[in-house]
Amino acid sequence: MYSFDYYNPTHISFGEGKITELDKLVPVTAKVLVLFGGNSARSTGTLDEVKAALGERNIVEFGGIEANPTYETLMQAVAIVKEENIDFLLAVGGGSVIDGTKFVAAAAVFAGDPWDILLSWGAKVTTAMPFGTVLTLPATGSEMNSASVITRKEFQAKLSFMSNHVFPQFSILDPTKTLTLPERQVSNGVVDAFIHITEQYLTFPVNAPVQDRFAEGLLQTLVELGPLALSQPDNVEVRANLMWVATMALSGVIGKGVPHDWATHMIGHELTALYDIDHARTIAMLLPGMLDIRRESKQDKLLQYGARVWGITQGTNDERIDATIEKTREFFETMKIKTRLSDYQLTKTHIDEIMIQLERHGMTALGEHQEVDLAMSRQILERNL
Ligand code: NZQ
Ligand code: ZN
Repeated sequence: MYSFDYYNPTHISFGEGKITELDKLVPVTAKVLVLFGGNSARSTGTLDEVKAALGERNIVEFGGIEANPTYETLMQAVAIVKEENIDFLLAVGGGSVIDGTKFVAAAAVFAGDPWDILLSWGAKVTTAMPFGTVLTLPATGSEMNSASVITRKEFQAKLSFMSNHVFPQFSILDPTKTLTLPERQVSNGVVDAFIHITEQYLTFPVNAPVQDRFAEGLLQTLVELGPLALSQPDNVEVRANLMWVATMALSGVIGKGVPHDWATHMIGHELTALYDIDHARTIAMLLPGMLDIRRESKQDKLLQYGARVWGITQGTNDERIDATIEKTREFFETMKIKTRLSDYQLTKTHIDEIMIQLERHGMTALGEHQEVDLAMSRQILERNL
């Protein structure tokens, strides 16, 4: 196992009715900007519950943060923070609202051009405003991590940053708030969480059995609960466990002391930026081909994953890896997520466009061995056509 530092200051308040805890978690004297997305927070009643819990505190609302939050919209929120002397941010929504709030938290106190936050991958962030979250969509893990992904429309660029300054102070996870999710978002959440785990687990062995077995347990839980979340949409127990799996998948704990991949995510971000395809769908259509093309360098972990998560123990190594990749693809399809570029009307011409974007964004040496260069990215995309 590699050496590591583990730091995670986010306070989690989990369970039905926990929104009332806001009264304890948000400073009494705070002037709060409540950030949310399109309409779901309002139409589901969650926003009203949040406002009721904040009581007499001085609040300002900022709605309209898009799925795949944009720099353009978020800079409007930064202006309001400054005009209104806001001193606390509260995100109410899914990964997009939380990621957007992280950016606002950093940008509002950033000396210089805020786009540098993204261009420096967060390295230039030296401080940020305090903020909390009320999660309404289990998927990204953003509620308990220090990462944020922001799209700048004018550049068709979707870039991420990380900083210890943008961990949420607290996150409220009330599983009943996820019962209003459309099926498409439930599917997206399960598959996104699944691939967050594979990005940190399906690399090469470094003798880290705690991280491995934790990751395998989370994957098995998703395999078991994902289909139930679709067939039993009112089952709160299922939703509660899904919420916690998704948080644990990217809270940092399974990724400490082990190599990471993230090539699937980096290429996937380009597909969302170019064609506006849901994040989880982009990565579902990349992962099977990614594992296929990189089967040699990932062989040991692929065999371990196949055996422990899918019970595949028979046949030659190649046969076992084929069956493992097929099981992974089938799982995504069971979650009603298509896994081929052609399912999204993408062709070879689109692959050429994607290659230009990857080069433009410096995505030319991805993966745990930095072996995913442009030529390999093209191969991976073509394998998934
Ligand atoms: O905009 P509203 O009307 O609120 O509707 C949202 C949105 O359209 C809706 N929704 C959310 N909660 C709901 C609900 N509808 C009904 N009931 C509820 N309780 O769901 C739609 C999608 O929301 P979004 O926040 O975009 O989804 P998700 O949580 O999947 O976040 C995706 C974003 O997170 C980034 C992605 O790139 C993408 O931009 N990621 C962030 C990561 C991180 N910070 O660590 C890691 C991930 O890999 C990912 O890249
Ligand atoms: Zn993701």
